[in-house]
Amino acid sequence: MKIASVVGARPQFVKAFPVSNALRDDHEEVLIHTGQHYDDEMSDVFFEELPIPEPDVNLGVGSHSHAKQTAAMLEGIDDVVSKCAPDVVLVYGDTNSTLAGALVGSKRDVVVAHVEAGLRSYNRSMPEETNRVLTDHCSDLLFVPSERAVETLANEGITRGVYDTGDVMYDSLLAVRERARDCSSIVDELGHTDGKYVLATVHRAANTDNPDRLESILTGLSNAPSPVVFPAHPRTVDALESEGLDRALPSNVDVIDPVGYLDFVRLLDGAERVATDSGGVQKEAFYLDTPCVTLRDETEWRETVACGRNELVGTDPTAIHRALTREFESSTDDTPYGDGNAAARIVAALESVTDAPQRNVSE
Ligand code: UD1
Ligand code: UDP
Repeated sequence: MKIASVVGARPQFVKAFPVSNALRDDHEEVLIHTGQHYDDEMSDVFFEELPIPEPDVNLGVGSHSHAKQTAAMLEGIDDVVSKCAPDVVLVYGDTNSTLAGALVGSKRDVVVAHVEAGLRSYNRSMPEETNRVLTDHCSDLLFVPSERAVETLANEGITRGVYDTGDVMYDSLLAVRERARDCSSIVDELGHTDGKYVLATVHRAANTDNPDRLESILTGLSNAPSPVVFPAHPRTVDALESEGLDRALPSNVDVIDPVGYLDFVRLLDGAERVATDSGGVQKEAFYLDTPCVTLRDETEWRETVACGRNELVGTDPTAIHRALTREFESSTDDTPYGDGNAAARIVAALESVTDAPQRNVSE
């Protein structure tokens, strides 16, 4: 079986490495990096630290308007797919790289497989929501992380090719958690103590492109009960600078460069709370038992809210402060996103729909 895997943004490197490893045991993978993320700390560091092979192709698409960026990806991925003639185009998540890969596969009449299918925020102003819906509706195989995602797809008329594999980010986290605890010294380096700092990340367009919301988040963080470590996405740094907010940062908020996955997992593991608008970080907080304060009005990961480990607060400073200081439900035994063996199930499902030899995979 030959798989063309499409990645391009930070969370996709994290999602792809367990699947890539499982695939390469018995199959051929052509790894296409669109170049959507390109800074060392947004891309290279993941290929250096994680057991993921170097991309076979980097399209070097870079940053543009969404349409131009997606168009450049379409052209580049199409060239690679037409040359390498894969059995499957495999895409991850909900970025422009995801949509471009899915569209190329669909237009080339190659099986399209989507990892992290069936997620919805029901907020169409998010660019990711359009990417999710369109990708799901042109995918042949839909690897979903939860029972809710199966129902979501069924409600949209998609029932064929749906596999509840669990969340592949759980595989990723389990693969590095101990290594992060043993090898990362970032908490010490930053002068913090476990359980006595708050971790923050912000990168959603709705927060970075709206100065009032960004300022409101900073005000909320300024009242945090502990120092705040804030590894900032480049678009957030740009927004802080263009609004002059970087010159008036709260004294307890330490804005640092984005960190690699091992350091990030270590920071999240040791934090007393995380405040974030990230999708992946909400789940990782859940797996690591770190209470999560989500700087959005809705989430695709509603199970984390339902079990009391995540609170949606939007950007209101009072709500942020309250959530950063209140008690959360004690950790839960709920496992809404599977058992951390999603990659093996994904490979088994791919084998079952192509002519590839079957392997034994425990359910
Ligand atoms: C993208 C995804 C988002 C995902 C996020 C993960 C889309 C529509 N959005 O958002 O779903 O959650 O990645 O982090 O696909 N930039 C740099 N260096 C880089 C990358 C980006 O400076 O290596 C800056 C550029 O100014 C760029 C901006 O960040 O214009 C936004 O980057 P882009 O990839 O368009 O979107 P993200 O906000 O990263
Ligand atoms: N992450 C990281 N370093 C950072 C911030 C995040 O390695 O400084 C990782 C994080 O552990 C998670 C992924 O990046 O696996 C989430 O990416 P992001 O928040 O950019 O995107 P989203 O998940 O919202 O699409």
